[in-house]
Amino acid sequence: MTSPTPRRFDNRTMAVTGAASGIGRATATRLAAEGAQVVLLDRNLDGLAATEQAVREAGGQVLAHQLDLSSEASVTETAHTLAAEHPRLHGLIGCAGVVHIDGVQENPFLDRGLAGWDLLFGVNVRGMAQLVHELVAPLVAARGVVVTVSSEAAYRSRAGRWIYDASKAALVSVTRSMAAALAPDGVRVVGVAPGGTITEMHLLDHDDPEATRSRMRAAGGSNLLGRLAEPEEIAAAIAFLASADASFITGTTIAVDGGGAGSR
Ligand SMILES: NC(=O)c1ccc[n+]([C@@H]2O[C@H](COP(=O)([O-])OP(=O)(O)OC[C@H]3O[C@@H](n4cnc5c(N)ncnc54)[C@H](O)[C@@H]3O)[C@@H](O)[C@H]2O)c1
Repeated sequence: MTSPTPRRFDNRTMAVTGAASGIGRATATRLAAEGAQVVLLDRNLDGLAATEQAVREAGGQVLAHQLDLSSEASVTETAHTLAAEHPRLHGLIGCAGVVHIDGVQENPFLDRGLAGWDLLFGVNVRGMAQLVHELVAPLVAARGVVVTVSSEAAYRSRAGRWIYDASKAALVSVTRSMAAALAPDGVRVVGVAPGGTITEMHLLDHDDPEATRSRMRAAGGSNLLGRLAEPEEIAAAIAFLASADASFITGTTIAVDGGGAGSR
């Protein structure tokens, strides 16, 4: 017998970036299932609409706004809208992230140099930091929580994904710094560092995404559990960290990687 889903987010408003797909969609769905009013944020309007419909059909309360984290103006505009609509924001979950540069994940240092640096640091680090900064007032008003999503890549340094790895390491640092800045006002800032997870991020550059998804499930992984994660498994960890169950956790980034690079 499965235990009933808890209701840790009743009467709470939780904003989720990257909600159009993958871990962000799974997180928004999980938070809504636990009672939150979720505000979906992403640059991808079609994906946003699909998540919005899925949450609504499951009986959740949901709003959606377009957000492009690579644009300072877009972050400011969305933050203003959010703050006006939600003077008390209980949570901001930053799932949006990019690894691809010009359509490919592998961008070798020697061949490609700094190509893509501004995009990856802009979305993965700067955009999230700006969004938190512009939402401090509603987060403080609710004594809310910020959850960042870095990666086990933060603890690796690969020649081919060196910019992504560096951006995720920077996000771990920014998480600690924001936690220190916001703790006096009762806001926790905490991170998750997922290991390889079967999401659209890895399916983008394949002709047959569903076949690739099945292959990834069958292929296993290099972590202790020997498999890749499903997005719902990362969402469950995010929901815990965003909930009052994690009331004494701040500043740290928790590895959710099946015993992978972030755990050992
Ligand atoms: N999938 C993995 O193996 C894995 C592993 C570790 C960490 N992560 C991290 O988890 C997070 C979620 O990844 P995912 O696997 O769900 O990927 P995904 O590609 O399925 O989802 C990422 C989302 O971010 C959005 N996004 C991208 N650029 C944006 C921008 N400029 N403004 C607003 N939204 C933007 C995309 O539209 C998309 O909806 C990312 O930060 C990723 O780096 C993923």
